[in-house]
Amino acid sequence: MISICFATNNKNKLEEVRSKIGDQFTILSLEDIGCLEELPETQPTIEGNSEQKAQYVSQKYHVNCFADDTGLIVDALVGAPGVHSARYAGPNCLPEDNMVKLLNELKDVSNRTASFKTCITLVLKDTQIQFEGSVSGTILQEKHGEKGFGYDPIFQPHGYNISFAEMSMEEKNKMSHRALAVAKLEAYLKSI
Ligand code: IMP
Repeated sequence: MISICFATNNKNKLEEVRSKIGDQFTILSLEDIGCLEELPETQPTIEGNSEQKAQYVSQKYHVNCFADDTGLIVDALVGAPGVHSARYAGPNCLPEDNMVKLLNELKDVSNRTASFKTCITLVLKDTQIQFEGSVSGTILQEKHGEKGFGYDPIFQPHGYNISFAEMSMEEKNKMSHRALAVAKLEAYLKSI
């Protein structure tokens, strides 16, 4: 069975991917390959960061690898927080701080459309390929719901009248930006 490292330390992401392709591929975590260092993420785009992480791990640890990177793109803020979504309110900030900052930036703004975008870069036998998933929606005026993580309480996907944080994990994992990108990765891996 081909082994592929998923360059993440997030156990939920690992389980989600293993449940989808774990019967055909051995999905290794960073810990499994002995990578305990912080991965470089210095590129100006979501695609660039995902590529940087996948290439770094693949080249340094000599493994097949894929890495994901996600950002929230708010149209009225010309794409911000985008690639800076995790640390929008500053280094070591909490998700709460990021949401407060974003709501504040949009205080008097009527165009509240936004989208989550995930890019996955796969480096398999020295070939690189990228997969994208995105979900568009609106930034709510205030937080709704307790589930999920990150910006979930203030993001309502189009076609729904609840926020990501009001959905069950199963429901969100069926239609999220990450799920769409993972589905493309899964389809590709199953086709080779
Ligand atoms: P990462 O690249 O998956 O680590 O995501 C970067 C940042 O985007 C996270 O720290 C969160 O702030 C935000 N983010 C990513 N995915 C989601 C999501 O599904 N819901 C809400 N926020 C997210």
